[in-house]
Amino acid sequence: MNQHSSIKGRGSLIERATEIYDFNAALRGRAAPVVDPTDLPPVPAVTPPPAAPVPAAFAADSPAAPAFTPRAPDWTGPVQPIDRIKLAEAGFLRPDSAVTTMSEEFRLLKRDLLSQLRTNPRGNRILVCSAHSGEGKTFCAINLALSLAAEKDREILLVDADFGKPGIPAQLGLETGRGLMDALADPLVAIEDCVIRTDISSLSVLPAGQRSHDDTEYLASARTEQLLKRLTDGRPERIIIFDSPPLLAASPAAVLASHAAIALLVVRADKTSESALRDAAGMLKGGAQVQLLLNAVRFNSGGRRFGSYYAKGEAQ
Ligand SMILES: Nc1ncnc2c1ncn2[C@@H]1O[C@H](COP(=O)(O)OP(=O)(O)OP(=O)(O)O)[C@@H](O)[C@H]1O
Ligand SMILES: [Mg+2]
Repeated sequence: MNQHSSIKGRGSLIERATEIYDFNAALRGRAAPVVDPTDLPPVPAVTPPPAAPVPAAFAADSPAAPAFTPRAPDWTGPVQPIDRIKLAEAGFLRPDSAVTTMSEEFRLLKRDLLSQLRTNPRGNRILVCSAHSGEGKTFCAINLALSLAAEKDREILLVDADFGKPGIPAQLGLETGRGLMDALADPLVAIEDCVIRTDISSLSVLPAGQRSHDDTEYLASARTEQLLKRLTDGRPERIIIFDSPPLLAASPAAVLASHAAIALLVVRADKTSESALRDAAGMLKGGAQVQLLLNAVRFNSGGRRFGSYYAKGEAQ
């Protein structure tokens, strides 16, 4: 049996994770915090994007005028090269490199996600979250983005939504700048100008931006939904992946889940306890479709290994 078929035989990371945990029990936990709209700071009105000129044939008084469909703008930020050496050093997938166990794991994950997004009415938004720090959210978000960016007809926007500890641009060797929180807090900041295009043409990055004391309230505001729609309107090929802070340590991830179609809950087999998983899953109630993503790491003499699962109690 070759390496590829043995991965297939084990099922995807999601399937294996779901087998391991009583996920339905976990979802019966606590609900995501509801933000009272009267507690919100005043949110400035959104400046609507300039309307595209309507061809004369489609003018309002024409009986044949079709409904106007907004189309998200192209990114206007500069293109920066992704640092391939940094990618390799951190153990990320490398574009154009040979097939590895890890690249196959992410390929299976991406196929699962793409088929689910096709039927999900909440748009192409995936939140990567986990109970605690160090469980591999950023690692999985970056790898998933790199894997999805290899799709021929997709455009991936990787959003650093860990406002307290942003790190995605640095991990990819990109110079960071204004980002999501700046666009949320200041209507004069156009979100598309904050997007960093990379030399992988189908992969762009939105930095976290300047942290505010009202991160969660901004995220819970109607403006967030408007801005996110503005990124994808009329662009079904665009997929947004959010990296986030730990669910049990900060509130933004639970609120972001309400904007996402799928919440990938990263479980690190050698670290995440079932009670933490249950609490974390409870925070995601009522929002996105929740999927477990098994991330287990073993450091051995052969170096890092991805995707190894050790059943509870099994010696490593
Ligand atoms: N499957 C994996 N294989 C190899 N290294 C991994 C794997 N998953 C995570 N790591 C490494 O473990 C460390 C912690 O991972 P990561 O930063 O992605 O966690 P996190 O959940 O984003 O943590 P935080 O909430 O603090 O941001 C990193 O050094 C990362 O490179
Ligand atoms: Mg992280």
